[in-house]
Amino acid sequence: MDNEQFISNVGSNIENPILEQGRMARDMEKHGSKLIKINIGDPGMYFKMQKNVLWAFKKAIDDGHTNYLEEQGLQELREAVSKRYKDMYNIEFSGDNVVITQGVSEALSFMNQAMINENDSAVIFRPFFTEYLAYLKLSGGVAILPSLDEGNNWDINITELEKALKAHKGRKPKYMLITNPNNPTGTVLSEKAMRKAIEVAKDNDMFVVSDEVYDELVYNGAGFTSVGNIATGIPHMLLNGASKNYMATGMRIGFAIFPEDDAKTQSLKEVFLGLAGARLSANTPSQYAMLEGLHNKAKHEEFMRVKIAQIAKQSALAAKLINDTGFLTAVQPNGAFYIFARIHFDKLNIANDKEFAELLLREQKVQLTRGSGFGMPGFIRIVTLPSEAVITESIARIKKFCEAHQR
Ligand SMILES: Cc1ncc(COP(=O)(O)O)c(C=O)c1O
Repeated sequence: MDNEQFISNVGSNIENPILEQGRMARDMEKHGSKLIKINIGDPGMYFKMQKNVLWAFKKAIDDGHTNYLEEQGLQELREAVSKRYKDMYNIEFSGDNVVITQGVSEALSFMNQAMINENDSAVIFRPFFTEYLAYLKLSGGVAILPSLDEGNNWDINITELEKALKAHKGRKPKYMLITNPNNPTGTVLSEKAMRKAIEVAKDNDMFVVSDEVYDELVYNGAGFTSVGNIATGIPHMLLNGASKNYMATGMRIGFAIFPEDDAKTQSLKEVFLGLAGARLSANTPSQYAMLEGLHNKAKHEEFMRVKIAQIAKQSALAAKLINDTGFLTAVQPNGAFYIFARIHFDKLNIANDKEFAELLLREQKVQLTRGSGFGMPGFIRIVTLPSEAVITESIARIKKFCEAHQR
């Protein structure tokens, strides 16, 4: 058997564009280059976790909580997730309707395994978080990719959604995935557009999935609305977790929430439980740590207040500096910690965003992610977690790079 036969077709087609320059970056570092990395949205690289959550993690180990837990997740934690949504959004569901996963990533994987057969389709708005397409493809699915509207603060554009569905007439998409706040655009979606999109989902018999993993990271007075508030009576699932709102990426804790009692939502939950059983348990000490994080609301709010203010300031600075370059333009983000900038190729001797990202790394030692990796060629994504000094330096280098390649 040669290597081509040995390796699976789907597996060999999966990649993460956010990490694709890793080898080149490591090589450069080995040879003494100091790189500025603005490619990975990992708050754990910039902020220490909440002390009480870390303490609870250590205590869980000291108390001997190192065994498997129930596949659905620790009951008290599931109840705490239910209380969080009740307190924050007045959305009611019981802890029985929550499955604790190893990050939202595992929930995305389960979701596709649960719903997608070979050649089934799903609606994913672009630009999208890279994992969405990877997991859909792993299940043999086909993506329907309506564009978000750059001209309208990257909001959902219903005409685009309807156009994309029309272009795939004959297919019956299984689900529509909404990301709010959005990665990579940093947009907080408007309630109005979401309501319309959910109507379209309902009319087309699509299950609605809402990835709300950044729902606490909202600033500039933007108003976040949970899909749980506007999809009542419509089959849907909410995704959330520890990675971004608790800046605890390494804990690998996600929440898959099934708030509705309809047959579709509940049968999806049952399949989730089967898949969770196949992997036995999510990380045990992390579940105890997250329980402390959710229980102690005052400490959490205090922890986040400072971080959100800092991220808002850094994101505003990044937007201003990018728009001042003369080569790039970006919509001001109001959530998460990303900025998605259009490259004005008419002013540059560069062919596309991939070449832009590669040459920038080689020449200016700045590592970022190409927009085509998020399904939107012609853009770059910058992470706004680094300090103002690092953001200023990296955008100065980007400007210098553009000047060197000016047409
Ligand atoms: C929109 C979105 N969903 C999910 C994830 C993955 O989250 P987790 O660390 O919980 O797997 C990310 C990570 O960047 C993300 O941006």
